[in-house]
Amino acid sequence: MTCTPLPAEFADLVASARTRPGPLVVLTGAGISAESGIPTFRGPGGYWTAKAGEHASEKLRPEALATWAAFSRMPEEVWRFYLYRRSVCRRAEPNAAHRALVELERALQDRFLLVTQNVDGLHRRAGSSEARTYEIHGNLNRMRCPNAPGEEKPRMIPEALLDWPRERAFDDEARRLLRCCPGGTLARPHVLFFDECYDEATYRFRSSLQAAQHAAMLMVVGTSGQTNLPDQMVRHAAARETPLVVCNLDESPFTRLARDRARGLVLRGKAAQLVPAMAEAIARSWA
Ligand code: OAD
Repeated sequence: MTCTPLPAEFADLVASARTRPGPLVVLTGAGISAESGIPTFRGPGGYWTAKAGEHASEKLRPEALATWAAFSRMPEEVWRFYLYRRSVCRRAEPNAAHRALVELERALQDRFLLVTQNVDGLHRRAGSSEARTYEIHGNLNRMRCPNAPGEEKPRMIPEALLDWPRERAFDDEARRLLRCCPGGTLARPHVLFFDECYDEATYRFRSSLQAAQHAAMLMVVGTSGQTNLPDQMVRHAAARETPLVVCNLDESPFTRLARDRARGLVLRGKAAQLVPAMAEAIARSWA
């Protein structure tokens, strides 16, 4: 693997974390999948910066679509948005950063935990294990019953709906395949909507917070730091002086927090270039 050179401070931080109890916790966001060709949320061309019509619904802006309020009023319109996004993600391939985290998990085993905000499923497709990957915002490939929160394992959405162009209208095939139970109501996407709260059963809220509290080191990759659970995770770790390294293209609340701390470091750049080098250095030091 060809790796980007990292500053000496990174090796020092990794070495200082090696003998601390707890796992390496890696927290990822949309930036890690940007080089796989998946739009981020708040960047140029991002899902939340788009206008109505740019991402599947002619009626509502994407940010308004991604809510329980919208789903309960117009489930088919909301499903079009998620099915379209799912087809974008399924056409994309995991990149070098996703693959490097798989290798790092293999090297560290139970000293590794991945917490991802991404619903694109690329970490799992690259080979990250189900047991050590918490998908805290859900997964676009899955659906679940809207009336039984946390009671069933979300099911795979049928492959027959994989090809979903932006302009495709919701049809009888989708209506049939997305049913919760025979003759029942429509299932919902297995994704946290804006007007919903995290919980443990579906989104691993408590487990993720505890992991951050007990981490030997926290590595944050490609997130603007706008959501609640990641914000709490990073703040808890920082309050305990846990070594914190943030890899991001732009400034964020997390880069500012890391820069303010003695045991913090910011690596500005693209995840697919930096994460392989970071993963290799950690594996070499900790294994
Ligand atoms: P954002 O779109 O808010 O932020 C992406 C971050 O990745 C930005 O800070 C970019 O600078 C950075 N970035 C972009 N390309 C990068 C690259 N190649 N390498 C490294 N960094 C790069 O996405 P998130 O922070 O993931 O939630 O958004 C968090 C959550 O907000 C999402 O999971 C979604 C959204 O609402 C739900 O849908 C529930």
